[in-house]
Amino acid sequence: MDIHVATLPKILDKRGNLSFAENMNQIPFEIRRTYWIYDVPGGTERGGHAYLENMEFVIALSGSFDVLLDDGKETEKISLNRSYYGLLIPKMTWRTMVNFSTNSLALVLSSTEYDPNDYIRDYNEFLQAAKGII
Ligand code: TYD
Repeated sequence: MDIHVATLPKILDKRGNLSFAENMNQIPFEIRRTYWIYDVPGGTERGGHAYLENMEFVIALSGSFDVLLDDGKETEKISLNRSYYGLLIPKMTWRTMVNFSTNSLALVLSSTEYDPNDYIRDYNEFLQAAKGII
């Protein structure tokens, strides 16, 4: 899979560090929505679906977690454990988020507004759809 973790700009400062991300710059789409995942009990999984159109950029603002990615052909595990790492998840990618550390905070920047019809929640249906476009 052609997936890599981006390193976001870091402004190192004795007063505390700062990182940022801009539309169409570090983030290769216009951000239409953001949401965040927090208070995840140990051992819990999130995700377990793909989007037909939505692209996402995921940052572990605090703590760490792993993102399991599957494009219907290949799988990859990406660990996010720094607040300046960002993971771009293309559309039509099955994703599961696991191994959340205590007090982890996942920030997700999305290319579309929330639309329940954009989800594929059935893995076999995803594989069928992925075959059509891969
Ligand atoms: P879901 O996307 O299934 O969560 P995850 O992929 O992290 O496991 O969303 C969980 C619930 O939250 C679901 O009922 C839909 C709702 N939701 C919104 O209302 N707006 C949003 O932007 C998101 C991402 C979810």
